[in-house]
Amino acid sequence: MILLAPLQSFTDYHFRNAFSMHYTGIDGAVSPFISLLKGEKGKPRIARDVLPSNNRSIPVIPQILGNDAALFIQMAEFLHRWGYEKINWNLGCPVRSITRKQRGSGLIPYPDLIREMLEKIIPNIPQSLSVKIRLGLNNTDEIYQLVPVLNDFPLENIIVHARIGAQMYEGNVQHDVLQKCLPLFRHEVIYNGDIFSYSDCIAIKNRYPEIKKWMIGRGVFYNPFLPSMIKGEQAPTKEKAKEMFLSFLLDLYSEFQNDNHLLRVENKIKMLWELFSKGFVNSDSVFDQISHAPTMNDIVTITRKLVETEEMKNP
Ligand SMILES: Cc1cc2nc3c(=O)[nH]c(=O)nc-3n(C[C@H](O)[C@H](O)[C@H](O)COP(=O)(O)O)c2cc1C
Repeated sequence: MILLAPLQSFTDYHFRNAFSMHYTGIDGAVSPFISLLKGEKGKPRIARDVLPSNNRSIPVIPQILGNDAALFIQMAEFLHRWGYEKINWNLGCPVRSITRKQRGSGLIPYPDLIREMLEKIIPNIPQSLSVKIRLGLNNTDEIYQLVPVLNDFPLENIIVHARIGAQMYEGNVQHDVLQKCLPLFRHEVIYNGDIFSYSDCIAIKNRYPEIKKWMIGRGVFYNPFLPSMIKGEQAPTKEKAKEMFLSFLLDLYSEFQNDNHLLRVENKIKMLWELFSKGFVNSDSVFDQISHAPTMNDIVTITRKLVETEEMKNP
């Protein structure tokens, strides 16, 4: 079972819909986080990404970021009215402006606050809850305080990005720590972190034979075939792969253009190429070319040229 990771501004519904039109292998997605804001009264102005009419393809689990139990419950009720039977709580976001307010991975050093939140929300939300965590905020000792708290609650599963918050998205995934603390979890653990290739996935499967579900984020941008290859599908020829990648990108661009709420489609596309470009051998040059395209027409022309002429790393 493979879940698409939440990547704020990257894996929103446009991406999920376009991806599912061209590729297979993803069984579900956790949405990029929906922030709990005071004064919203649970009105999900910011939850457009999980509006059912926008989500025609991959089953989605909305993710909530915040530490206010009352607002969390309101949001959960709202999402339930939209038909969501599962929600996820973000305990992993490493961004300083968020962690300093004890949100995301900023809550991990405070297991008592996490317990208090779970005590309040679990009996009062209509969905099953999963959490997405890191191994700590500042150090890996923190995970050993967190696991016993999580073990006391009926969670659907626990997604573990095996880094600490201070690492952001860089540095090594801390396999030695995850391996050591894995037996302590009472719940099913979903592995997340640096699955960028088929061989990465095999190595993870060998290292953690007890884990049966994986979450992949950036790797899907580097190689959209990755999930289907992990599921055992034959990789296409380079030519076919390029043809499919181009159709996927053009459909993705259309998804953005059809969204009246999206003001700067060009900027959005250029941002996504920060990750797409890494799938090319000459990634810096590829990103440079697309990021200097002045208009949407130029973006389309350069996209065609890049996909046709530049060498891709995979499949
Ligand atoms: C640009 C970006 C945005 C992200 N946004 C979220 C988010 O909204 N919620 C979340 O739980 N994780 C978020 N993450 C973390 C990813 O879900 C994932 O844990 C991380 O990228 C490691 O997985 P990967 O190596 O497969 O990409 C984000 C990561 C990146 C790079």
